[in-house]
Amino acid sequence: MKAISLEKKIELENPATQEFSRLRGMVDDSMAGHISAKACDAPPLLREAMEYSLMAGGKRVRPILLLCAGKAVGGEEEKLLPFACAVEFIHTYSLIHDDLPAMDDDDFRRGKPTSHKVFGEGMAVLAGDALLTEAFRIMAESRIASGDPEKAVRAIADMARAAGAEGMVGGQQLDLAAEKDNAAAAKAEEIALKKTAALLASCARMGGILGGGAPSQIAALGEFGTRLGLLFQITDDILDETSSFEEMGKGTAKDRIKGKRTYTVDYGLDAAKERADKLGREALESLAAFGPEAAPLKELARMVRSRRS
Ligand code: IPE
Ligand code: IPE
Ligand code: MG
Ligand code: MG
Ligand code: MG
Repeated sequence: MKAISLEKKIELENPATQEFSRLRGMVDDSMAGHISAKACDAPPLLREAMEYSLMAGGKRVRPILLLCAGKAVGGEEEKLLPFACAVEFIHTYSLIHDDLPAMDDDDFRRGKPTSHKVFGEGMAVLAGDALLTEAFRIMAESRIASGDPEKAVRAIADMARAAGAEGMVGGQQLDLAAEKDNAAAAKAEEIALKKTAALLASCARMGGILGGGAPSQIAALGEFGTRLGLLFQITDDILDETSSFEEMGKGTAKDRIKGKRTYTVDYGLDAAKERADKLGREALESLAAFGPEAAPLKELARMVRSRRS
């Protein structure tokens, strides 16, 4: 058996790490159920393509964020779970499309060949479309949607806005435009805010809404999510320059060559690390009004800053 480092051993024995693995397992099981033939009567090849990307083993940061935010305001894990799965469906669709030749043109994702490499470009487009649409089906069919439709509609609208033209899709468009015309491009941080932080902020707010949080708590969670999301993308930009394929499960050292407008390309590695540290501190400050119930969210911020994959 391969020996593990002391650092890794301490991490594995950390109760928060164990709690996140439990949540990850729960989300994985539930997602598998949502795309099973029983729940969704898709043509077999389409289901295979959806499952291939979904179950390839992502970190599940967004569902964990939603669950921990919801629980911080008193929400029930079981009821939050379909929404946590739905955000991972949306995130996975965004990755499949992000990797297409017409976008970042990447060959590996989550340690495996990308969807279009295995199933072809047309299928990858459709698998993404299907995952995005199924996400809304799952949220609309949830127990909160039937028992407390007002909360569900608010959460779904929040996610739609964050994932759509003014959020993630808008950010992806700015990201592509910046490759072509760097001089006129939006700044790295504005791109990251839309393409990545909008979705994480919505996950945190959705947890707050669905868990029955007060307006001030939902706003604080949203601010936490925005800062965590920016930290997440800047860390991704740093790791593109400092990590490896083995650790990331996707290609590295590509952003600069492709003319991407990332934080590290714009300002350099040291400035990016400083910005990430500051965002980590600011994310914790957003949770100042919470007590021990926000401890898992704080731990999540720490893990996002120190992640290597
Ligand atoms: C990758 O997201 C895309 C970015 C927003 C940087 P993740 O790093 O969360 O990817 P998975 O879900 O763990 O594969
Ligand atoms: C992707 O950002 C953000 C999305 C909305 C999918 P990147 O293009 O930096 O993500 P990776 O590095 O391919 O995972
Ligand atoms: Mg991209
Ligand atoms: Mg990419
Ligand atoms: Mg990247």
